[in-house]
Amino acid sequence: MEEGELLYRVAWACTGRGAIVEIGSFKGKSTIWLAKGSLAGAGAKVVAIDPHTGSAEHRQGDQPVWTYDEFLANLRRAGVEEMVTPVVATSAEAAARFDQPVELLFIDGDHRYEMVRQDFDLWFPKLLEGGYLLMHDTIRWEGPRRVARESIYRSRSFRNVGFVHSITFGQKVAQNTAADRRRNRYLLLLHIVYDHLSTVRVPPALKRVAKAIFTRLQ
Ligand SMILES: C[S@@+](CC[C@H](N)C(=O)[O-])C[C@H]1O[C@@H](n2cnc3c(N)ncnc32)[C@H](O)[C@@H]1O
Repeated sequence: MEEGELLYRVAWACTGRGAIVEIGSFKGKSTIWLAKGSLAGAGAKVVAIDPHTGSAEHRQGDQPVWTYDEFLANLRRAGVEEMVTPVVATSAEAAARFDQPVELLFIDGDHRYEMVRQDFDLWFPKLLEGGYLLMHDTIRWEGPRRVARESIYRSRSFRNVGFVHSITFGQKVAQNTAADRRRNRYLLLLHIVYDHLSTVRVPPALKRVAKAIFTRLQ
């Protein structure tokens, strides 16, 4: 399975009892996967939060970044404009005024550790029990990887933990069981090995085989 397909499937499985929230939309690629999945499922709108001024890696020199127009155009082209509620704000600004329960939370905003930590800490309490958290770039990116390991793989509040390439996901529970924790530790071990392997230069065909093996091991 690819990352986009994972977003689609989890959004499709949402029941509609909470919102679908995305932190970090950029030009809408992940937003479109979430919106299409939700459209095929219960139809909850995707709340897409982004100041649209880019992250450090998008800013080249003094050039200002503004991705909102391209974001809207891409949603329109994909036919999902009606499924998305854009919020042009930082995650912290949006969290302060967002008072609905969340059924799916996708974190892909600022990748610095303190910022990913802040995103997690502000939004995790809004996530419903049974809801899913997905975090992008937990492979090879120090910030998201550390937060995922501290607060998903090693947490007492997640079960059904796993990863699809760089996305780590987990289902929130009041308290996971000893069996859940053993499985989460096993997944953490797989994640560490996969992360190391991702730094090795191998032909694309071999990468595909490795991905398939890691999917089977989960
Ligand atoms: C890696 S990109 C997101 C990619 C997007 N999810 C996709 O699949 O194409 C990171 C985005 O996070 C946004 N961002 C940066 N700081 C943010 C913050 N504090 N709150 C929300 N979004 C932020 C940036 O503007 C940028 O568009």
